[in-house]
Amino acid sequence: MDFQARLEALTHQLRPWSALWSRSILQGWPESGAAYPEEWRAYARSLDGAGERSLDQGVLQGVPPPSLAALLGALQELTAIPWHDGRHALTVTETQGLSDKKTHELERVLALLGPRTRFIQQAVDIGGGMGHLARLCARTFGWTFHSIDRDAALQDKGRQWLKRTRSAVGGPLSFIQASVEDGSQPRLDPLFSGPDRASIGLHTCGPLALTQIRKSQGAGFILNIGCCYDKLEVPRDYPVSRVGREHPLPFTPHALALTTRERPRKTEAEFARMKQVYAWRFAFHLLSKQRFPERDFVRAGDAPRALYDGPFAIYALDRLERLGLSSGMTEAELDAFEVSVRAETRDLLLCHLLRDRFARALEVVLLLDRAMFLEELGFQVELLQLFEPDVSPRNLALIASRNT
Ligand SMILES: C[S@@+](CC[C@H](N)C(=O)[O-])C[C@H]1O[C@@H](n2cnc3c(N)ncnc32)[C@H](O)[C@@H]1O
Repeated sequence: MDFQARLEALTHQLRPWSALWSRSILQGWPESGAAYPEEWRAYARSLDGAGERSLDQGVLQGVPPPSLAALLGALQELTAIPWHDGRHALTVTETQGLSDKKTHELERVLALLGPRTRFIQQAVDIGGGMGHLARLCARTFGWTFHSIDRDAALQDKGRQWLKRTRSAVGGPLSFIQASVEDGSQPRLDPLFSGPDRASIGLHTCGPLALTQIRKSQGAGFILNIGCCYDKLEVPRDYPVSRVGREHPLPFTPHALALTTRERPRKTEAEFARMKQVYAWRFAFHLLSKQRFPERDFVRAGDAPRALYDGPFAIYALDRLERLGLSSGMTEAELDAFEVSVRAETRDLLLCHLLRDRFARALEVVLLLDRAMFLEELGFQVELLQLFEPDVSPRNLALIASRNT
């Protein structure tokens, strides 16, 4: 893939819409709605429930405005990332105690590593948790493996797991309890360096992915799968490549949070639940704006699941009590308020659905920037989709090898 051309084309599409994706809809409402072209909003309002769900999946039913259809078409094309096909089937013993998600991930990671790491003898896993990847790599490939994690309790669980299952490990496996940080770490740094060394990071949160890349400049092979992009700090963590710096996008904390939201293909029930949660949250927001105008932004927070299934009044009273506030309204008045703002809460939902269409494109921009950074460090780089997004939505893998 030509990362530079892809990054330039994506930023060209995204930049004109930065007022839309870089800000929170709710916190700036109703002014934030102005970033959404009126014809987009009118189209979204014309959709029925099935049309809304289609929009949430990136499919535009009926007659969409040409500008929206063209933009979503371009974003879809530019975020199409090749798939890694293949799965290293694990045995029942090997997957004992693993979730379906973890098993899915490990089977794909092992299949990806096999043909690309023939020259590797030693490997390190950054944020290796209980060491499942470590023990499977040690056993499958015979590598000497160091699994680093700052969480000692997780590593203890991993050691006990190995004892309990009496797993044959293969190559030597060590757990190292440490926090991997930028800058010199004489005990850890040598583990990341050498042409026969692989550096692996599976769901490295936020900036940990970049720490891994920086530490692994002397490694023969790097596999990084990122997550929690909302933990990144701009400009420290984006852009990191020269090309990225030439074409920067105005990422904000709200835009970073958006990149972690993409979850394709919600079931009908999941979509209905999401709508219900938003309906109560948005109505509560409009209520608190009306009743407590002196407060900048009242955060409703996550409520117990059952509260979204009952009347708005019960939800609102629970949230108000938690926040130490009182609206002075009866249950009947609260329910009547919710009904009175329904057109507005639907508008808010529709803007959310439109804004969500930018999520994957923004995530891909962050990863293209990292891919360019790895290329600039002299690696040969691939960017592939590795996991089924329904199972593990942060599914983009950066793979970097030295040309040996
Ligand atoms: C999202 S989990 C991923 C765990 C594992 N790789 C997996 O895929 O199941 C991130 C792990 O990284 C560890 N971690 C986060 N920051 C770290 C750091 N700076 N140094 C070492 N470990 C870290 C956490 O303790 C946690 O176990």
